[in-house]
Amino acid sequence: MVLEEVRHIFRKEGIKLENHWKRSHHCGQLREDHKGIEVTLLGWVSKRRDLGNLIFIDLRDRYGITQAVIDPDLAPNAIEIARSLKQESVIGIKGNVRIRPDGMLNKDMKTGSIEIQISEITIFNHSEILPFPISDLSDASEQLRLKYRYLDLRRPSMQQRIIDRSKITSLTRAALEQCGFLDLETPYLYKSTPEGAREFLVPSRITPGNFYALPQSPQLFKQIYMVSGIDRYYQVVKCFRDEDLRSDRQPEFTQIDCELSFVNEEEILELFTGVVKEIVNQFKQKEVLNTIPHMTFAQAMEEYGCDKPDTRFELKLIDISSEVKNCDFKVFKDAVGQNGIVNCLLIKGGSDYSRKKIDELGEFAKQYGSKGLAWAKKKEGNGKPSWQSPIAKFLSDELITKIENATKMEAHDLLLFGAGAYEQVKSSLSALRIKIAKDRKLFDPKELKFLWITEFPLMEQDEKSGKWMARHHPFCMPRSEDLPLLDSDPKKVRAQAYDLVCNGYEVGGGSIRIHERDVQQKVFKIIGLTEEDANKKFGFLLDALQFGAPPHGGIAFGLDRLVMLLTGCDAIRDVIAFPKTLQASCLMTNAPSPVPNASLQDLHIKTSSPEGGE
Ligand code: AMO
Ligand code: AMP
Repeated sequence: MVLEEVRHIFRKEGIKLENHWKRSHHCGQLREDHKGIEVTLLGWVSKRRDLGNLIFIDLRDRYGITQAVIDPDLAPNAIEIARSLKQESVIGIKGNVRIRPDGMLNKDMKTGSIEIQISEITIFNHSEILPFPISDLSDASEQLRLKYRYLDLRRPSMQQRIIDRSKITSLTRAALEQCGFLDLETPYLYKSTPEGAREFLVPSRITPGNFYALPQSPQLFKQIYMVSGIDRYYQVVKCFRDEDLRSDRQPEFTQIDCELSFVNEEEILELFTGVVKEIVNQFKQKEVLNTIPHMTFAQAMEEYGCDKPDTRFELKLIDISSEVKNCDFKVFKDAVGQNGIVNCLLIKGGSDYSRKKIDELGEFAKQYGSKGLAWAKKKEGNGKPSWQSPIAKFLSDELITKIENATKMEAHDLLLFGAGAYEQVKSSLSALRIKIAKDRKLFDPKELKFLWITEFPLMEQDEKSGKWMARHHPFCMPRSEDLPLLDSDPKKVRAQAYDLVCNGYEVGGGSIRIHERDVQQKVFKIIGLTEEDANKKFGFLLDALQFGAPPHGGIAFGLDRLVMLLTGCDAIRDVIAFPKTLQASCLMTNAPSPVPNASLQDLHIKTSSPEGGE
């Protein structure tokens, strides 16, 4: 319909159509230099103050806020409109830029030295009363913020995060393109090939009973790109995983996915150290990242109890299994006797922890599998062992001295002990280490500590079924020196795989891939895939590996986590414009939701849930 016809209909209906108002500047732009010029600004009414003889309006857009003022004597027509304005209405103003009177300058505002003397005003749209104020000081619940996400996103801190996310994405693209990576797409409707997490399935209407899956990552397509001779691929891409959510996990999230040919692990780590440095330093606009140290998986587990250590603080786990293996404290002795371990954490000056506080730490550790938390405080003792501890009575003076030496314990320190199976002790003390560091403010929350973790095990064994599973995914190349162990002792085989860790978060992970069909088939066999299964699921990959697949490898970074860390947020929900709740729902659109029965019939689907169809 042509515009004139629309105008005609609107006129007939009595609907007022505004003339087109084109903005001359945005709301963060005007300075003293603009004094005297006539401007048109468009935006939201952030604040309105009616002083009777004057009305002030703070007009806001993405770029900033500009103060405007109406003098009824100078703009009699505008005053009535201004009086009717509600907060967050969208308006246009015309007027002259003038320097604010002496004493009225606002140094905290970029435009704080000027104001607009309004001559004309128009309302594009009124706003209803808001469910919460558009302010970073608002204490609206997250539920409400997510329901009205468009209002939440108007808050200055959220606007900044969205802008920062865009900046980081753009810096990433520039850094990768500088290195010759091509920005290429891969399909979202994909074959079901579980990589570890549960998949989201999409029913096929055309082939009843068949399903596509949404990709957990473009892993196999990027490998196929390498077989196609593309050499360097990247994509900023949505990935979908139907897993339990946490503060750093969303069911759909964004990866910076990369793959490259004719490289080894060392070259990949060097190249991506450069890429990450470029992104971080450009974003922070100073050199905050110089090098990224490497640490093996074994060292990370030994010293930090997890594969994504927060290295902003020390507080390492100390193994005293060999010291206590023959002691009289049954818990310690039995732990070591049953192939477990005894580790401890030394809290410098920690003797100020009360019994109650230590009991709380014990309860906390239990959530991570701990069976108990023994402790010892060292008092001043004139060189003699002097422990206040429920287990001191089981330990000889000689052993206490040994433990003090092994842990470098001094007067006023507190030792916390975990004894039991390896996994339980490591994971509970690792969680405790972070809790204590937060409680005692042992690190600067603004600092960024990146780290490469290398030499991951290729496989892990399911405790219950004894089945072997790929630790990262089944396409990782084993380290060549460990290849002979593949049949005899898969647990000992290390992969050419690496993770990028920052402040205790895994922000990226990748590997050198298997590019030979027989090695790939062998790995499939160990993880329990029969030849038939392997062909059914991954036949296209096995086929591709037969036709000249180059050696290749890659990595994927979690963009949401990276943005969260670089912007100092605590949860990835805060850096995703439209996130899901912990129940995986979108509160703004109410997804997921029932669909009409007819749609289900089209898809040949019956649901057993009474709410399945409408
Ligand atoms: P991986 O599974 O380690 O590797 O994923 C890569 C990175 O993606 C981020 N990430 C997530 N972020 C938010 N929510 C989630 N649910 C989520 N899951 C993962 C993490 C992680 O480091 N195809 C391989 C990569 C490769 O081998 O090249 C892969 O997907 O930051
Ligand atoms: P009990 O003899 O059971 O009273 O335990 C003595 C101390 O050992 C208590 O402080 C317990 O918390 C601690 N303890 C019990 N089991 C463990 C364990 N598996 N690891 C570390 N400490 C433990």
